[in-house]
Amino acid sequence: MTSTSKVEMSAASSTPANYQVGFGNLFASEAVPGALPQGRNSPQRAPLGLYAELLSGTAFTAPRAENRRTWTYRIRPSAGHPPFKPLEGGLLRTGPFDEVPPPPTQLRWNPFPMPESPTDFIQGLVTIGGNGDAGAQLGIGIHLYLANRSMTRRAFYNVDGEMLIVPQAGRLRVVTELGVLDVAPREICVLPRGIRFSIELPDGTARGYVCENYGASLRLPELGPIGSNGLANARDFLAPVAAFQDVEERWELVAKFAGNLWSTDLDHSPFDVVAWHGNHVPYKYDLAHFMVIGSVSFDHPDPSIYTVLTSPSETAGIANIDFVIFPPRWLVAEDTFRPPWYHRNTMSEYMGLIMGAYDAKAEGFVPGGGSLHNAWSAHGPDADTFERASAANLAPHKLENTMAFMFETRYIVRPTRHAIESPHLQPDYTGCWNGLQRHFAGGAR
Ligand SMILES: [Fe+2]
Repeated sequence: MTSTSKVEMSAASSTPANYQVGFGNLFASEAVPGALPQGRNSPQRAPLGLYAELLSGTAFTAPRAENRRTWTYRIRPSAGHPPFKPLEGGLLRTGPFDEVPPPPTQLRWNPFPMPESPTDFIQGLVTIGGNGDAGAQLGIGIHLYLANRSMTRRAFYNVDGEMLIVPQAGRLRVVTELGVLDVAPREICVLPRGIRFSIELPDGTARGYVCENYGASLRLPELGPIGSNGLANARDFLAPVAAFQDVEERWELVAKFAGNLWSTDLDHSPFDVVAWHGNHVPYKYDLAHFMVIGSVSFDHPDPSIYTVLTSPSETAGIANIDFVIFPPRWLVAEDTFRPPWYHRNTMSEYMGLIMGAYDAKAEGFVPGGGSLHNAWSAHGPDADTFERASAANLAPHKLENTMAFMFETRYIVRPTRHAIESPHLQPDYTGCWNGLQRHFAGGAR
């Protein structure tokens, strides 16, 4: 056994110099010079005695703009392992979600507590709800993760959906087949279907949110009249460089497949890819790089102006899931009610808070918590926020120390039984609108 471990070396810094830059690019990377074949994908003998293995993230015949695939050059093919055995899934659930009838009531949860027993990222997944059907490749699962130990010689891959991870507390070191992503709160990462990964916790504990996207892969939204710059710029997305472990010891490989977890054993690290090229890749993005666009006259645009990534459905303009953020920004609009207005939407909204406070609520929506305003459920600022914003001096004002996000989806979000019966569900949430006063000054004619 050799002890080569480029994985450890590549984690020394998370500056862009250790990543490949861009979104959807055909990246190429080799951890050992000469490991990447030139001129052909599967030569009769791959360099350095490596095996070629193709990961197809889309059907072979997907249009070029949609096509995602990555060629890996690895120490062993992935096929060598015993049959999978069922594994207890804990509080992880998968669509279709039908444990309880989804109520139209506005719902809000306090942060769930950290577990007391040793719990890794996979064991710590708690499903809040979701929609659609993983088998039909539409809809999403919404999860929290609450973890207090690293995945040790344990790797995971998800067949049901790609995973958008939104850390709220504690850094994640995401070791993948294609390299390492160091992800801190305020950053996000996306782990595509089928890619094997393991999550270590440099801070000992970690908490955050996961959108498991059963539908079309997340991509950057079109910019229309905004032009070629703005919102999340492609250059700020970072994919890993090749890094590998040449370690022969027992590993567990866990698969999420058709809603269930399955486990098998490997006799070596699955992170044995020495070189790769392609665009079916994990990536990360720092939300601080989001170029915020808003009104400089009056009113404010729909929150779609804050879309970071979108998973389109088969109906143009109606997303399976939009990942939207509410970042620090200047508010300068005149004669405008500046917080989000009261609304009822056909889309369903799950919101979380990464840091700070959210400008539409005075209290009760805290980092690590979440709210769910389902289709056509009325919501908006609480009474205190309405009164304050209606009387505010509208000088330019900067919202700082805040980062909220929304998973906005075309389908009703159906909570799990665990979420709806949780003691962390706030029983008095709807009371935040009780104090709204009647101000109507006119009389009947
Ligand atoms: Fe809303």
